[in-house]
Amino acid sequence: MEIAEVLKLADELIFAKTGEHIDYLQKAILEGTLQGRTYPEIAEATHSSEGHTRDIGSKLWQILSEGFGEEITKRNFRAILKKGKFCNFSPAIGRDNVTVNNNLNICQERARSPTEAQNPQPTPKQLHIDLGDAPEIFTFFDRTSELSTLENWITGDRTRLIALLGISGIGKTTLSLSLIDRIKTQFDCVIYRSLRFSPTLDATLTNLLQIFSQQSEIPQNIETKISQILDYLRKYRCLIVLDDVQMLLGSGQLAGQYKTGYEDYQLFFKLIAEVCHQSCLILNSWEKPREIARLSKEYHPVRCFVLGSLGVAVKEILKSKKLADQETWSTLIDIYQGNPLWLELTATLIRELFGGRVAEFLQCEMPILDESLQFQLSQPFGRLTAAELAVMVHLADRTEPVAVSQFLNKIPFSASEIVNAVRFLGNRFLLDTIEREKITLFSLNAVMKQYVQSRYLSN
Ligand SMILES: Nc1ncnc2c1ncn2[C@@H]1O[C@H](COP(=O)(O)OP(=O)(O)O)[C@@H](O)[C@H]1O
Ligand SMILES: [Mg+2]
Repeated sequence: MEIAEVLKLADELIFAKTGEHIDYLQKAILEGTLQGRTYPEIAEATHSSEGHTRDIGSKLWQILSEGFGEEITKRNFRAILKKGKFCNFSPAIGRDNVTVNNNLNICQERARSPTEAQNPQPTPKQLHIDLGDAPEIFTFFDRTSELSTLENWITGDRTRLIALLGISGIGKTTLSLSLIDRIKTQFDCVIYRSLRFSPTLDATLTNLLQIFSQQSEIPQNIETKISQILDYLRKYRCLIVLDDVQMLLGSGQLAGQYKTGYEDYQLFFKLIAEVCHQSCLILNSWEKPREIARLSKEYHPVRCFVLGSLGVAVKEILKSKKLADQETWSTLIDIYQGNPLWLELTATLIRELFGGRVAEFLQCEMPILDESLQFQLSQPFGRLTAAELAVMVHLADRTEPVAVSQFLNKIPFSASEIVNAVRFLGNRFLLDTIEREKITLFSLNAVMKQYVQSRYLSN
């Protein structure tokens, strides 16, 4: 009997008995049992305590025994399957008439009917919204297609975990707040929190529980906190945005690794992706966290959205800064990569030193990097490994995009160090990549190039 069938049947029995779907630990216990694993091994693989795993296991066997009408234990489960009894068993209809999806994301599709999927209805419950210290958005331009893609992922596809990625200043915070505004009525609870001061997972969980439960009695144990949060995410439809996730990631190591003391976030995000619930967590970051890269390849309910240039809509920002010479704005936008923050900072400089005349500003050797823009760029650069920096310095000196094979022997690092560096620079959104005649070529945009040249190559 296929493991998916076993899980499907077990899920039906659990649902008929408790009204809840199979959860990640119950699934792990069944899978582990089929693979001949012990409780301590299953506990280790799921990062749970052995005692908790045994408790859940014993309740699970009891539910299955009652539903099946014969004693099922961890010991005899495989034998029962071998005899084919479980396979021929058809449980009574559960509390609601559900159809079961034949894969591990058993409950994802069944929580709603096909009509609900197409026309998600606003929940009639009262919306609880807590945006904490989110910046107030005064102007918001365009991003129409980005908003509708994200909305589709969340309300149509029921994506549980979304990483909203892109270089600093590109508009992640602004977009996520605008998204909240657009879809908030479809949720019971909407939360925005920035992790800019690097709170521990424990502190973040406590904060979330305080918002959810409105109580001061928060459990001490981190495992209980996680399981209570997952309960809320199951019972209520919640949208949570955690901003500035890059602050949990370390510097001087390849992109996406958590700082010491912050590794447990990785497990929390993984659980949000894997456990069945009806909520969505959005993580904003200017560096792709390692496990998100992996989970988005493995699991359907996890997606990455890389935010790019604001495009011609940036002209509205230039207009609001009262710049002159509209016919030259496209050139300015191209040079500064359509990055709204870079253009805001540069527009201020143009107003102060050039009376707002863009044509006159463009006469200077381009691009000019305002001091606050240099500070913005210094942040991701401060995190690079020596090999990553060497690749950036090498690319800043090239006029044309180049393939990795063309610079392998020109940088004093081993081939694998260079290849990894290129890969992770991509995860930090510092490199431009193009495909030409079936070869991948890498380059730096004008702003990056200027920054690296002035900072690392000028002496
Ligand atoms: N769609 C937009 N419309 C208007 N201004 C924007 C837009 N996106 C970003 N901005 C402006 O650009 C700046 C950087 O945006 P922000 O969302 O903070 O970027 P990130 O979170 O990616 O670092 C902010 O001042 C913001 O007001
Ligand atoms: Mg931001």
